[in-house]
Amino acid sequence: MAANSSATGTAEIGVTGLAVMGRNLARNFARNGFTVAIHNRSFAKTQSLVDDHGDEGTFVASESVEDFVASLARPRKIVVMVKAGAATDAVIDELVPHLDEGDIVVDAGNAHFPDTIRREKALRAKGLHFVGSGVSGGEEGALLGPSIMPGGTAESYQWLGPILEKISAKVDGVPCCTYVGPDGAGHFVKMVHNGIEYADMQLIAEAYDLLKQGLGASAAEIGQIFADWNTGDLESFLIEITADVLQHVDAASGSAFVDIVLDRAEQKGTGRWTVQNGLDLGVPITGIAEATFARALSGSVPQRTAALGTLPAHTTDWQVEDRAAFIEDVRLALYASKVVAYSQGFDQIAAASAEFGWDIDRGAMARIWRGGCIIRARFLNRITEAYERNVDLPLLLADEYFTGAVGNGVPAWRRVVAGAALHGVPTPAFSSSLAYYDGVRAERLPAALIQAQRDFFGAHTYRRTDRDGTFHTTWSGDRTEQDA
Ligand code: 6PG
Repeated sequence: MAANSSATGTAEIGVTGLAVMGRNLARNFARNGFTVAIHNRSFAKTQSLVDDHGDEGTFVASESVEDFVASLARPRKIVVMVKAGAATDAVIDELVPHLDEGDIVVDAGNAHFPDTIRREKALRAKGLHFVGSGVSGGEEGALLGPSIMPGGTAESYQWLGPILEKISAKVDGVPCCTYVGPDGAGHFVKMVHNGIEYADMQLIAEAYDLLKQGLGASAAEIGQIFADWNTGDLESFLIEITADVLQHVDAASGSAFVDIVLDRAEQKGTGRWTVQNGLDLGVPITGIAEATFARALSGSVPQRTAALGTLPAHTTDWQVEDRAAFIEDVRLALYASKVVAYSQGFDQIAAASAEFGWDIDRGAMARIWRGGCIIRARFLNRITEAYERNVDLPLLLADEYFTGAVGNGVPAWRRVVAGAALHGVPTPAFSSSLAYYDGVRAERLPAALIQAQRDFFGAHTYRRTDRDGTFHTTWSGDRTEQDA
């Protein structure tokens, strides 16, 4: 940190890292009336922001990190918008020597939350605040109003909150930004947001495939079905863009655009992190996991090549007779599977909150996801209401609203999953969500047999339904039961 009080400027917020996201965030701050200090490793990007958008507000451009820091009012609030990982550490290391006690560094990239916990601890030891903040909404959201999920100290939010809330998306006048919780909480919630995004996208893709295979419908026709769905309970950004994408025609070939895109889904890693953490916490986030593995399967080229035309299908063509009824079945199955994915994601947030002592308000998370972010959707209001009814709700599906909304669709859900299995249409997310629904509502699970097997081969012990204690049966001896 600066040995003595370094120069103090007037900028209310600073942004370093002016690639598309950083540039748009800086513009968003400026358009909302804040004086914005801007900096980038290469000055050309800083200059081009001033040249192209200098008239949108007040920017203070600096070439050196020292001047950038000096142009900010105290406590300094600096948003770092660079690639997650080593680049973030490098920028922080460069900034820190110039900062003074109480200054706030915000990492607005998609950092992995353990890194955020580590960085927060290191900066706290130097008397600085480190805020790991999820920012969702892509380029357009950054410019026009993202959903913002800041972690860090509650004190840092006193300073940052008003600024971030002002630039965030608003739904019914309510900002899509709130304090999430200490250290890694903000980036954790953003990670789960992305995991849910993966599940949502996979479910939509499966619905599209079901309609394509079941109805033999064209991309444009299916796009129209999604457009219709977007006027009801499923209304959401992802359904809306799906309708748009499916109706888009490739200029070069004249084909439906979706038909010329290579069918290998990629990822930058947030979905994988979500699944890894679900395993660590022991939370069954099966919808997110299936979605992540479905992307992996799509990219498993040698395996797909070996299987194509080789593995027998034993199916017949799917000829749906009542088209309207089938479309409605798929809609209901999509809705139900989607609720399962969200229910699981919120369970994961609750488990991590307990594990790390974050005290995350799940209803507030659903509220700030209503606008700005990729998973923004009409039904998030219902999730907020559910957690307002019961802040400790153990299972979103068990909330009275969702029990009804999903329950009504169960017969359709079963028909769709059974139909897909019979006709060889892969629906990992639809199917696993239904399996989760049946598993979580089961009075008795075959887990009892697994415990018995574990005790048989490894003396791993078991508990009984009829009395307390832990037991082992002497399987290789006289099969008497012992207290373990
Ligand atoms: C957002 C998005 C954003 C991005 C992800 C997708 O909330 O604005 O989630 O973070 O689109 O990086 O990542 P994949 O490349 O992993 O699909």
